[in-house]
Amino acid sequence: MNIIKVKDKQELAKKAAGIIAGQVLKKTDCVLGLATGSTPLDTYNNLIQMYQEGLLDFSKVKTYNLDEYYGLERTDSQSYYYYMKENLFKSINIDMDNVHVPDGKAQNVEQECIQYDEMIRQAGGIDLQLLGIGHNGHIGFNEPADELVYGTHKETLTESTINANVRFFNNLEEVPTEAISMGIGTIMESRSILLIGAEGKAEIIEKMISGPITPQVPASLLQLHPDVTVIYVAS
Ligand code: F6R
Repeated sequence: MNIIKVKDKQELAKKAAGIIAGQVLKKTDCVLGLATGSTPLDTYNNLIQMYQEGLLDFSKVKTYNLDEYYGLERTDSQSYYYYMKENLFKSINIDMDNVHVPDGKAQNVEQECIQYDEMIRQAGGIDLQLLGIGHNGHIGFNEPADELVYGTHKETLTESTINANVRFFNNLEEVPTEAISMGIGTIMESRSILLIGAEGKAEIIEKMISGPITPQVPASLLQLHPDVTVIYVAS
């Protein structure tokens, strides 16, 4: 693992955006795996700025998001599709036909999950997967468990994740309790991985980097991946 410690979230965002920009410049039709949550927001702002300065072209880039809340329409302001549109896609020249987020309202969830992984394979696989990390060590919504699931699947969110996400909702009752998430295998098949952690994530990141490889800390599986960069605020 390539570990980069930074002093604050601004430096984190600059470095993370630099790595994503490097990928887009190197391969203009690259496949990016994207994350939501609060951590990537500044990174996305940096990418938007680079696009506005004429440094980046996203017209041929394809994206696959890690996850989506189960039961939410794309038009719901709490959906991850909506988040991506508002916080990145509407401000860059990406072709919305090249944008993919699991369908939280899929009639046949099993089929949706199989198709999602198949679409990623048909696109040639993910060149660079951006990840955040939960306080409990989840990546995507692969929650700590005795066993992890390989492919995209429906996951029941843990209490810790629901409590962490309540800040985006009016109250606890509104927070979805299930999500469709890429599996650990889907994530591990990416050619390269960039995991970012802002203030408050140093403890779990250090556990992920040097603790035992265990499904109880899903991110620890990344120790087995040959090309992972971790950038985190060391406080
Ligand atoms: C989001 C996702 C989650 C978040 C994680 C950290 O698409 O897959 O794993 O990356 O929960 O969230 P923040 O950045 O809000 O602390």
